[in-house]
Amino acid sequence: MRLFLLFLFSCTLFSQQNRKEMLYQEPFRPQFHYTPKNNWMNDPNGLVYYDSTYHMFYQYHPNSSVWGPMHWGHATSKDLIHWKEESIALYPDSLGKIFSGSAIVDKNNTAGFGKNAMVAVFTHHSDSLWIKGYRNTEVQSLAYSLDNGLNWKKYKNNPVIANSNEKDFRDPKVFWNEDKKIWNMVLSVGDRVKIFASDDLIDWKFKSDFKPKNDLNNLGVWECPDLFKMNYQGKEKWVLIISHGNNTPNGGSGTRYFIGNFDGETFTNEQASTWLDLGFDYYAGITFSNVPENKKILIAWMSNWLYAQKTPTEVWRSAMTLPRELLLDYDNTAHIYFLRQNIVNQFQEIKTKIKEYKNVRLPFRKENHNLMESDISFDSKGGDDIEITFSNELGESISLGITNNIFFFDRRKSGITDFDEKFSAEIQRIPLNDNIHKFQIVLDKSSCEILLNDGKYSITNLIFPTNKYTKLDIKGDEGLEVENLRVEKINSIWK
Ligand code: FRU
Repeated sequence: MRLFLLFLFSCTLFSQQNRKEMLYQEPFRPQFHYTPKNNWMNDPNGLVYYDSTYHMFYQYHPNSSVWGPMHWGHATSKDLIHWKEESIALYPDSLGKIFSGSAIVDKNNTAGFGKNAMVAVFTHHSDSLWIKGYRNTEVQSLAYSLDNGLNWKKYKNNPVIANSNEKDFRDPKVFWNEDKKIWNMVLSVGDRVKIFASDDLIDWKFKSDFKPKNDLNNLGVWECPDLFKMNYQGKEKWVLIISHGNNTPNGGSGTRYFIGNFDGETFTNEQASTWLDLGFDYYAGITFSNVPENKKILIAWMSNWLYAQKTPTEVWRSAMTLPRELLLDYDNTAHIYFLRQNIVNQFQEIKTKIKEYKNVRLPFRKENHNLMESDISFDSKGGDDIEITFSNELGESISLGITNNIFFFDRRKSGITDFDEKFSAEIQRIPLNDNIHKFQIVLDKSSCEILLNDGKYSITNLIFPTNKYTKLDIKGDEGLEVENLRVEKINSIWK
């Protein structure tokens, strides 16, 4: 009997050890992007910096690798790069499941939960909640934490914003409006954004609807808005980000932004909207609140509702983008403001430079290297058309580049693609208004993030190669010169 128990005990120890070693080593598991250990994740929620720690909450289903009853998962980081998964922050309750929302630090205790309480403002979603004779599928609620986001209490008089028969009424993003000394909230409702104001996070007054005239239509439901002030050479502009469930330029879900002014009640749009990312897999991106120096750092969910639940991973499903810092800039040719996004500086710290080539003779080939966890960057000049290919010995490859001012990305042979026909139905082609002279391509196990011209254009795409890409080829038209090619290895954040 004793021997048998000893045997059982060592088996358990062994399998635990084995599992630990396997964790974050599974096929397609990103090595430097956040993924939960297990199960399904979608939108980032409640991004907030507090007491030297970045908190990332997220839509999480703890019991399955497909979407289901939503909770708020939680991860923390000191540097936005290395993440620690914490215990689940918010569980469904009698008012419903916990959908997307935001978090802030209530420095002046306006809500009465305590000085510096971390307050989460989120959507309760339920199919059977009736308030004052109205069906309340979606209402806005509060929860707070007095111990750095570890333990949460729901506010006793939830919801703080009920709803009168709107089906889609969700994803509150709350921020402290320093100009007006009030809290503001943007909320996505059907095909518009509603703006609210409050002194105490509890009593909210509706102020206005935002829905631009002659807007693009058929973009599906509006989701996950964000609104914040930025500065360009002393001029202040407000940026309103919004995600759309369907029919964006990539065929599925995507994110765009407006630039204009905001007076605490009404957002006035001043120019045509711009897509924040031109790829397939960048959704529900929002910025952190309370970051030092008022930096705007955004994280998005790296997937697309078209096929998100079918991607070929089993233990976990979906990753976040790398955190990107947003900067406001002005295009003197197009006469519009735009956002640049660049991966946060802390990313440099997990890089090991493996090779730098000053002047590159085209066609260029680099072989026998693991290119899957790397950052490849270079400048180009003197020509327009370029094609960059990453491939492996199994014949799997992606190619991307520019022809006739059109950016293309081909993942039809990238690896596993047959989990959904929409995943690789066509080569993606995106007309660009600029000549591209700077490329940055960041490859992780199952993603490719591309930033062109110092983050003026961003293209984020998932890929599922069954073996690592080991060959890099660069071809260009006559006259094209490639300089300062850097191939940098990225270390795993999970070791
Ligand atoms: C966006 C979204 C949100 C919603 C959440 C539910 O991806 O549909 O609008 O709150 O996901 O998980």
